[in-house]
Amino acid sequence: MTGRAAPGLQAPWDRVYVVGAGPGAPDLITVRGLKVLEAADVVVYAGSLVSPDLLAHARPDAVLHDSAGMALPEIVATVVDAFRAGRRVVRLQTGDTALYSAQAEQLRALAEADVPVEIVPGVSSAMAAAAVLGCELTLPEVAQSVIFTRMAGRTPVPEGERLASLAAHGTTLVLFLSAQMIHKVVAELAGAYPPDTPVAVVYRASWPDQQVVRGDLTDIVDKVRAAGIKMTAIIVVGRVLDAMGIPEEAFRYSKLYDPGFSHGFRRAAPESAPPAV
Ligand SMILES: C[S@@+](CC[C@H](N)C(=O)[O-])C[C@H]1O[C@@H](n2cnc3c(N)ncnc32)[C@H](O)[C@@H]1O
Repeated sequence: MTGRAAPGLQAPWDRVYVVGAGPGAPDLITVRGLKVLEAADVVVYAGSLVSPDLLAHARPDAVLHDSAGMALPEIVATVVDAFRAGRRVVRLQTGDTALYSAQAEQLRALAEADVPVEIVPGVSSAMAAAAVLGCELTLPEVAQSVIFTRMAGRTPVPEGERLASLAAHGTTLVLFLSAQMIHKVVAELAGAYPPDTPVAVVYRASWPDQQVVRGDLTDIVDKVRAAGIKMTAIIVVGRVLDAMGIPEEAFRYSKLYDPGFSHGFRRAAPESAPPAV
């Protein structure tokens, strides 16, 4: 698994490919993901968050199953039966396969059925949202950690991960599945983050109807409601959203490209090296 090119895609496959489709735009899938999609006989895809323009890359004779209306046993049976019948099967998930994807139970069921799997990662909507916002989620001495989380909904969040306690870290937050509860997000963050902390909401990142709403903790709820955004959105919270507005003394540039910093691949420029003592 991983680290090597996918094997001969025209021959029968010795594994099922679980592929991250990316956030929506059909050209935001990986090259490897597209190759296996184009070669597949059977594609089980995750509903409307997978673009029809991406599915159009499947062979005309490929059988496509929309898993939106299927429960886990049906999804697994569809994949396992097709694999055992010698068909080349792709399970196409949205974004990346490792975040809020219900992947674990599918992998477990496939393992129990002795079906080998290779996972092809995808561009998460979190990363697509950061790209749309034009921001680096990690700025030296501003935020060096990113917390991916969500508000509790019908899926509970473990007690130790309540947003109010995560907020104590004061770092960059990226919330999935929470736009409809933006008022609760703001309420949980109050006190830990200053009221002028920037917040951005990206709706359907990379789709033609993508929308971006920017504000701070004082006004984002009204702005998101006014925009009518309830789902399929990523919420980003943190000072990193305002890199241009952060005073130079509070935002140290990365050492990576610092002219005065040597590392394994580059010597510091002599004129910027500290004087020998
Ligand atoms: C079931 S989760 C799947 C996440 C997916 N595995 C990923 O990595 O993006 C669905 C949630 O992901 C987010 N999402 C998915 N696609 C999105 C997009 N194109 N733009 C913004 N948010 C998106 C929303 O928060 C949505 O409620």
